[in-house]
Amino acid sequence: MNIAPPTLPSSPLPSSPLSSIPLLAVRNLCAEFRTRSGTVSALENISFYINPSETVGIVGESGSGKSVLALTIMGILDPAGHVTAGEILWSQSAATLNLLNTPEKVFRQLRGKDLSMIFQSPRTALNPIRKVGKQIVDVLRCHTQLPPAQLKPRAIELLASVKIPDPAQRYEAYPYELSGGLCQRIMIALALACSPQLLIADEPTTGLDVTTQATVMNLLKDLATDRQMATVVITHDLALASEYCDRILVMHAGHLIESAPTAELFQSPQHPYTAKLIAATPEPHKGFNDLAPILGNLPDLRRSDLPPCRFVSRCDQATDPCHNQPLVNTQVTETHQVSCWHPLGGPQL
Ligand SMILES: Nc1ncnc2c1ncn2[C@@H]1O[C@H](COP(=O)(O)OP(=O)(O)OP(=O)(O)O)[C@@H](O)[C@H]1O
Ligand SMILES: [Mg+2]
Repeated sequence: MNIAPPTLPSSPLPSSPLSSIPLLAVRNLCAEFRTRSGTVSALENISFYINPSETVGIVGESGSGKSVLALTIMGILDPAGHVTAGEILWSQSAATLNLLNTPEKVFRQLRGKDLSMIFQSPRTALNPIRKVGKQIVDVLRCHTQLPPAQLKPRAIELLASVKIPDPAQRYEAYPYELSGGLCQRIMIALALACSPQLLIADEPTTGLDVTTQATVMNLLKDLATDRQMATVVITHDLALASEYCDRILVMHAGHLIESAPTAELFQSPQHPYTAKLIAATPEPHKGFNDLAPILGNLPDLRRSDLPPCRFVSRCDQATDPCHNQPLVNTQVTETHQVSCWHPLGGPQL
């Protein structure tokens, strides 16, 4: 059964169900880069929420805006980038801060302590000329009240907590002396040094072999559960997200096009792009011939005449409004939202 789109376009994707107070709420976020060859519209009207302790996946193909979104939340977007609209609300204890107008001095206290990030490439994110143990000590010294004598033992404890063999010995290692998997664990130890409430892991397993990938992801999941930490896992790998995440947000060309609990998204994808992503995702029972590639590319985000739906040129459901009318956002269930003129319908509708 198809859902008839409302006659009037609704507001951007709604955020949290009213019943819960999210840890992080992003509302109508827009960001762009001014480059010599034009303005790149990297994020447009992004709205979503992250609840305390939940694990949320952000998926989308290369260039869809996942890293720009993460860097914007962390307040470390490249200087060529500008937030042009929106709010990023961070709720802690009794207060809510809009991170977009939080003074850098205050933000610096949050970053690394309450909000932490693992970067896409651990080797370049680590300081190559400082011992890894000292890098953890630097974070502890900056964000905790630990007496100096306890800094090194605590750093070694953290190395042990991310299951680094011989932690006291590895404390003295430089990043180049460690494998990719160990560097990623060092990044996790660094990110968790101050027990953050939210960890954003941007492609935490890129470049790792499949076994190490699973070990790193299981480690992240266990640490998140033990510490009741909310985690955002950014990945282009929908299968990986589905294995580790409670909820999935799907991005395409700077738009957040669908969000739903993982099982619901797989059972009843509403956006044609999500359905195609699922059809293109390998599963044990699928052979190569069962996988359907998604034809076409992301539009050039520098175009000044981008259509309201940035998937329109790749979509077999597209009709006139998709080319020239503002996007329609539909609340499919309390926790399932889609941004499309022609949601696919499905079992629960
Ligand atoms: N510093 C920059 N200057 C100009 N454009 C940028 C810059 N950083 C990102 N972009 C553009 O913003 C868009 C989103 O990039 P982003 O890195 O967030 O993609 P992504 O989804 O993380 O991709 P990947 O899966 O490859 O990491 C792309 O069009 C990219 O070219
Ligand atoms: Mg990225």
